Amino acid sequence: MAVVELGPERCDALLRFFGDLPAGDLTFIKEEVTDPETVRSWANGESAGGRWVAVEGDEVTGYVAVRPLPGWSDHVGEVRLVVAPSSRGSGLGRELARQALVGAVSSGLSKLVVEVVAEQGAALALFTDLGFSGEALLRDHIRDRDGELRDLMVLAHHVSDTWSGMDTVGIADELGAPAG
Ligand SMILES: CC(C)(COP(=O)(O)OP(=O)(O)OC[C@H]1O[C@@H](n2cnc3c(N)ncnc32)[C@H](O)[C@@H]1OP(=O)(O)O)[C@@H](O)C(=O)NCCC(=O)NCCS
Repeated sequence: MAVVELGPERCDALLRFFGDLPAGDLTFIKEEVTDPETVRSWANGESAGGRWVAVEGDEVTGYVAVRPLPGWSDHVGEVRLVVAPSSRGSGLGRELARQALVGAVSSGLSKLVVEVVAEQGAALALFTDLGFSGEALLRDHIRDRDGELRDLMVLAHHVSDTWSGMDTVGIADELGAPAG
């Protein structure tokens, strides 16, 4: 398994990955992920935040994107992460999220946010370990597939505040940051 930047050669595999995901998981990505033109435009276009895929052989098993917010929040990137159900629980989500953080910091974003359904234990665990913390709780903000209302948490990572946190996961070294 390797995590690589999304390029044109992975588009077909990425479309297969999105096509096989349960509908509920697609909602985390917030883009037209089953539309071939949209996915090809990602791979060919310039991207301020970045997009990465986990690959195993010819298949994509995970995807993470950092999308800069528009206008006066263009210093903030929103993370969108999904791992194939059959590949969960082996550290792939953690590795993709780490790559997103390194890429976002390298491209100059100073804050990252991620929206997590409040009961999503795995997502909470992996983002918290990377230095994200709860910044907002939006109650009854999501309607799940059964029509039940669920709370949405917005976790945030303030880059300048957290060099020491990044040190603990080895990210500062990767970015060439000063020690300490
Ligand atoms: C969230 C998601 C990306 C995690 O992917 P993953 O590959 O299973 O993640 P990892 O294997 O790296 O696991 C991360 C941590 O969560 C823990 N975890 C897994 N399931 C858990 C659960 N139900 N409750 C609490 N912790 C859990 C794991 O033990 C692991 O911690 P560890 O390394 O200390 O053991 C995946 O579940 C997913 O795609 N969910 C749907 C989309 C989503 O929720 N995206 C996040 C918001 S954009």
